[in-house]
Amino acid sequence: MNRDVRFDTRAVHGGMESVRESGSHVPVIDLSTTNPLPDVRTGGDSYENLAGGGSRGADDSPVYQRLWNDGVARFEHSLAGLEGTDSAAAFSTGMAALTATLTAITAAGDADIVAIRPLYGGTDHVLDSGLLGTRVTWATPETVGRHISPTTALVVCETPANPTLDVVDIGSVVRQAGSVPVLVDNTFATPVLQRPREQGATLVLHSATKFLGGHGDVMGGIIAGPEPWIRRIRHVRALTGALLHPSAAYQLHRGLRTLPIRVRAQQENARRLVDVLRQHPAVATLHYPGLASDGDVVARQMSGSGSVFALDLAGGFSAACRFVDAVSIACHAVSLGGVDTLVQHPASLTHRPVAATARPGDGIVRVSVGLEDVRDLEQDLTRALDQAEGSADSVRSTRTG
Ligand SMILES: Cc1ncc(COP(=O)(O)O)c(C=O)c1O
Repeated sequence: MNRDVRFDTRAVHGGMESVRESGSHVPVIDLSTTNPLPDVRTGGDSYENLAGGGSRGADDSPVYQRLWNDGVARFEHSLAGLEGTDSAAAFSTGMAALTATLTAITAAGDADIVAIRPLYGGTDHVLDSGLLGTRVTWATPETVGRHISPTTALVVCETPANPTLDVVDIGSVVRQAGSVPVLVDNTFATPVLQRPREQGATLVLHSATKFLGGHGDVMGGIIAGPEPWIRRIRHVRALTGALLHPSAAYQLHRGLRTLPIRVRAQQENARRLVDVLRQHPAVATLHYPGLASDGDVVARQMSGSGSVFALDLAGGFSAACRFVDAVSIACHAVSLGGVDTLVQHPASLTHRPVAATARPGDGIVRVSVGLEDVRDLEQDLTRALDQAEGSADSVRSTRTG
């Protein structure tokens, strides 16, 4: 599609060109696990191209779903258009997309990663455990440059970061990294509010399970970047098999079409809640991009602060327990970015595997704001904070980790 059209138009029409050409209005979901081959030579040539990470050419057969699916490719094409990258590769989950990227790095004989905390707990755990053969050095946004060495293969950061919404200056990290590629997890901001490629990042990761799908009913992951990188990552996907299912690709592609309007409306609700809830006596600190000393960076690299915030409750763990128990419109559940409001306690759940010294505090609860009427959310969350306020030390911590 013509990249000159504006962002919201690209969100609606991206990846739909071939659909229109085929005479349909919405994509047909092709569930074929295998595809009839015109002849041995064509089949073999297509296999070689796709299994090596190439994309499907005009004369190629898709051959086998693990190698190629046109519906998955349409979702990838649309997301790449929104992030402003050449290409993208989609996976069954966000963790599968990260794992394939790290595997592409170790397959090339590299292993050293510099990463900035906080990160999503699963990402932190994969890096800290060295499960995939990588070696991590933890840095702060200011000290990345000091940790770069000739063997550093990748810098990893997340901004705004899960769960405390820390903001990383992407341009500064890219400058410090020099020739080392920088991967930014853009799950919280989405390309509606932030496009890391424009700040010089090489790779952009999403848990598509969150805002891209947007309804809490589909899992997926996607990594966007320059074609040579994405080709390497597709090669890993073809061999290791964590592909995105065509039905999930359909849902995620559809999700992109309403992404801008959902992200902005959820952000509008979040702003109002932030203004009100930060005054509540039960709240020691409310973490939201742009509220602290990160204002300049937010203004430079984001067009809005998003719809996730974290409340650090004065009453600690017991207050957090009371808060999540007391909500009735919001749902006590992990995940984020969907049309309904979710609250959860990161130290016990999403960030449980993180080393104790780097784990979020016991008083922190994360709130992902949905599309409900904000007056109902305000009432619900204020009432839950009232309950939390009266609760300090009334619930004994049962956590052992
Ligand atoms: C910022 C971020 N990145 C990556 C992931 C992993 O994504 P998935 O759960 O789709 O594997 C998550 C999941 O919560 C996340 O919040």
